[in-house]
Amino acid sequence: MAAAILSRALLFALMLLCRDYGAASLELLELRVPAHVPLGTRAHLSCRWQLGPTDVLYSVKWYKDGREFFRHVPREAEPRRKFPLPGVDVEDSSHNGANVTLYPAVLETGGRYRCEVSGERPLFPTVSDHADMVIVALPDHGPTITGSRLRYQIGDRVQVNCTSGRSRPATRLAWYVNGEPAPSTAQLTPTHQVFDDGLEVTSLALDFKVKPKHFRKGDLKLKCLATIATVYWRSNEESVQGERLKGYARSRELSEGASRADRVQAAGKSLSAPLTLASSPLVLCLVNTLIHNTILYI
Ligand SMILES: *[C@@H]1O[C@H](CO)[C@@H](O)[C@H](O)[C@H]1NC(C)=O
Ligand SMILES: *[C@@H]1O[C@H](CO)[C@@H](O)[C@H](O)[C@H]1NC(C)=O
Repeated sequence: MAAAILSRALLFALMLLCRDYGAASLELLELRVPAHVPLGTRAHLSCRWQLGPTDVLYSVKWYKDGREFFRHVPREAEPRRKFPLPGVDVEDSSHNGANVTLYPAVLETGGRYRCEVSGERPLFPTVSDHADMVIVALPDHGPTITGSRLRYQIGDRVQVNCTSGRSRPATRLAWYVNGEPAPSTAQLTPTHQVFDDGLEVTSLALDFKVKPKHFRKGDLKLKCLATIATVYWRSNEESVQGERLKGYARSRELSEGASRADRVQAAGKSLSAPLTLASSPLVLCLVNTLIHNTILYI
């Protein structure tokens, strides 16, 4: 008994000594686990370590939520072994067990992953690190903008909604006005609708009064950006093109059917022949709604 305690104490002292001298300093340098993985795709995990000058690698073990699913033990007859775990299919692994590829990612693939590296006897130094992985169900369509009117005048309220497709986790939405993030006072609190299958729809309303500054070169752009971490990025933009016609009123003649060239001309300060019909001090905005869809998958 006493001998056992003594030998343990000795071992402990030796470990401390080794650490102080920087010898036998097995180190885990980096664990890479993708934080978000779209359903049905591959997840590449990697673990980098450094052995101390006197270390020999004993094992590399991979765990998910505390359960081992892969092991590399160089001195065993079968150095690399997989252990069945629901949702964890090791498709590929590197010769030293540092890299494992899981495929296909299903909902059960999400969880906490741990890489554990051990050196050989007598000390069996062990280092480990962990990181979480979330499996993402991407929305089936981009964000949609509803509630925008065809015409806005200075002083009107813009009250529009942006709604995401169904996703898991929830999609984040943000409004941009003329390319700048909309002030927080103009964006209401997002609402979430959760379905039985765990998928969510996010809605975010934008509400502000149109001021002359909102029409830049006759344009008012409303953009809704939908993101999920770094794996999903999609936006929808309504570009409202209008002019402010000072001193002329019946510019309604310049309907939405007017060509863009006409309207560009109308925006000029000195209004010429085609526009003499217009004559009122009101400031009018003619609006033409264009919908662009920008798709950027990363
Ligand atoms: C292991 O993964 C790292 C980082 O992802 C990569 O740089 C390296 O090339 C991979 N090595 C092998 C053997 O696949
Ligand atoms: C925007 O959504 C909110 C809440 O879902 C709803 O009450 C409101 O009527 C919607 N507004 C427009 C302009 O669609």
